[in-house]
Amino acid sequence: MRFFEHTLFSGLKMILLEEMTFRWLEKFGVGGKEPEKNVPAGFAGSEKELEHSEEKRYASPPEIKSPDEEILISRRETKVKSLEGGTTHPLFVELKDDGKGVFKEAAWERERAVYLIDRFLGLELVPPTVVRQVNGILGSLQRFIPDATLGGNKDMETHLAACKTDMIKLWLLDIIIDNGDRNYANFLIKNSKVYAIDNGYSLNYGNKKDSLCYADFEKRISLYCGYKRFPGENLPVKLAGQMKKFLENTAGQKILQELLAELIGEDNARACLKRIVFVTKMIAEKGAVGSAGEDYLAID
Ligand SMILES: Nc1ncnc2c1ncn2[C@@H]1O[C@H](COP(=O)(O)OP(=O)(O)O)[C@@H](O)[C@H]1O
Ligand SMILES: [Mg+2]
Repeated sequence: MRFFEHTLFSGLKMILLEEMTFRWLEKFGVGGKEPEKNVPAGFAGSEKELEHSEEKRYASPPEIKSPDEEILISRRETKVKSLEGGTTHPLFVELKDDGKGVFKEAAWERERAVYLIDRFLGLELVPPTVVRQVNGILGSLQRFIPDATLGGNKDMETHLAACKTDMIKLWLLDIIIDNGDRNYANFLIKNSKVYAIDNGYSLNYGNKKDSLCYADFEKRISLYCGYKRFPGENLPVKLAGQMKKFLENTAGQKILQELLAELIGEDNARACLKRIVFVTKMIAEKGAVGSAGEDYLAID
């Protein structure tokens, strides 16, 4: 017994010593793991720790989850720096073993909510956006799109001609999320594909000042979205079919509404689903989104 205790004790001591030596070596940059530079003080999360925090609560249901979400959620950040050009101080984040994202503390619930809406509708405009902590702060982390041009750059007309369907999708998305901020710097274009970024100034039901949805429908659909709008124009058949499919998917609508309610509140979620049904019904009936003549927003 004594022998056993002694062996156990020595074993533990060895492990402890080894760990201390390793830490010491690491601290002074001698051997050990590659020291990670630019990790802000205060962040000490390992993959294990990340697994146990809020990230799980907001994870996507399997039916809409994209593989990129797992990368964005589970990989530890190795570099965090300010992203030039934002007013809400977004951060550029590099992740261990590759992966880059844009982290936002401001309106992270809406950034995530808009990604979910995009996934459920199959629009494929919003880069994968998850909820996680960076530097101990909860926010949204969106996949960074490298080498993209801002939507409103000088070659815009050429770009837009090549991705008209995506621009129609963007216009639809902005009606659905009631976006008040789709300016030239809030969508990106790369290889004729449009990416909807900075989606946080949206989904503001109940806030008359910040919500465009209190304007009448005609006015809403005539708003310029990245300098383009398509009221009354027939939608491409594939896109119309896709929107119709979600109108028929009542189970999907219910799941989406529940997920949204957790992020942006019940009323906001209900108002958004009402807009989705309103718009998709119109597409199913007319093949286009045009004059409505009724209040498309009020939820009571
Ligand atoms: N996912 C992304 N991929 C690539 N660049 C991005 C991404 N998100 C933001 N950016 C860049 O950072 C700028 C500021 O980000 P944005 O989300 O618009 O912040 P703000 O809310 O402060 O306007 C954008 O105009 C764009 O140039
Ligand atoms: Mg912006």
